[in-house]
Amino acid sequence: MNLPTMRVLITCPLPGIAGDRLAASGVDVIQLGDSTVDDASERGLLADVDGIVCTLTDRIDARVLDAAPRLSAIATVSVGRDHIDTETAARREIDVVTTPGALDDATADLAVLLLLSSCRRSTEAEADLRAGRWHGWGVDQYLGLDLMDATLGVVGWGRIGRAVGRRAEAFGMHVLHHSRRPTGEQGFVADLDDLLVLSDAVSLHVPATPETHHLIDARRLDLLGPSAVLVNTARGSIVDEAALAEALHARRLFAAGIDVFEHEPEVHPRLLSAPGVTILPHIGSATIRTRSRMAEMAVDGLLASLGVAVPSPADSRHADRNTLQERDRP
Ligand code: DGY
Repeated sequence: MNLPTMRVLITCPLPGIAGDRLAASGVDVIQLGDSTVDDASERGLLADVDGIVCTLTDRIDARVLDAAPRLSAIATVSVGRDHIDTETAARREIDVVTTPGALDDATADLAVLLLLSSCRRSTEAEADLRAGRWHGWGVDQYLGLDLMDATLGVVGWGRIGRAVGRRAEAFGMHVLHHSRRPTGEQGFVADLDDLLVLSDAVSLHVPATPETHHLIDARRLDLLGPSAVLVNTARGSIVDEAALAEALHARRLFAAGIDVFEHEPEVHPRLLSAPGVTILPHIGSATIRTRSRMAEMAVDGLLASLGVAVPSPADSRHADRNTLQERDRP
C-alpha cells in the first residue's frame, strides 16, 4: 500500500543544505513566501500539512494549530520555543523540535562582544568618531571598566551560560552563576538578588517563560548598581525594557548590551536614546555555520519525527562550513 506523501510547510528560506535535504527526502514542500503563518491558516493552507518548519518570528498559537488538523510535528530553527503554544501542541501530541546545542558558541561569543562593548563604551566612542565629535586622544576619554578581576554573574547555567562563563574566565573574570536548581558547582548563588549584588556584570541565559517574564525589573536593576553592566542575548521579555531604559538614562546602570527585545522588531524608544547601550538586531546565532547547522537540525528532527528517512548529506564539506558561499550572498 502506498502511504500518502507527507506535506511540509516552510515559513522561510532555509540556509545551508537544509532545503536540499528536505527536498531530497521526498516530502511535498510548500513555501510560505511573503505571507505569515496566520494568513496561511486563514487561507486554509494548513489543512493538509503534516509538518511545519518555522522560525521564532512565526507565532504558532492555538488558532494556527487548530487550522492544521493533520499536523504532527513543528520544527523551529531556534532553540527558543516561546513562539509556539507548546501546551496545545502537547495536548495534540504534536512534536516540537528545536535546535539545542547548535548555537551555543555563536551566542556566547555575542554575549562577550556585548559585555566588552558595554564595559569599554565602544558604541559611544565609535558613534562620536563617525559623527566627527572626536578631536584627538584624551587621558580621561571614554573611561570604561576592566574585565580582569571583575565578577560576572551568569543567570541560567545551561549550555550557553556555561559557554559564556568559560569565555569570561579567559578574560580573568570571576564567574558566579544562578539557576533555579542548585548546580553543585563552584560559583553557584542560590538567590538571584544576591547574585546581582555580587556581580559587576550580569549576562542572562534563561528561556522566556511566565516565570522569567521581567525577571530583571526596576528593583533588580537597582541591585546591580551604577557601575554594573547588563547583557541580554536570551529573550527580551526577561528584562523590563522601560525600566532598563530609565535606569540607563538616570545613570543608575553603567551600560547594557542588548540583542533581544520585548516586542521585536520594535525597540523601546527610551532604550534607543539611552546612554551606554549597545543594541543589536537579534544576531546571537547569526553565523554562517551556526544558522546552517540550526536549519539542518530542524529539518532532520522534523523528518525523523514524521518517520521520513533522513537523506545523508550529499556533500559533507557543505554541511559544516564556516565560509560564505555563493548561495549565502544577499
Ligand atoms: C534562538 O534560537 O532562540 C535564538 O534566539 C536565535 O538567535
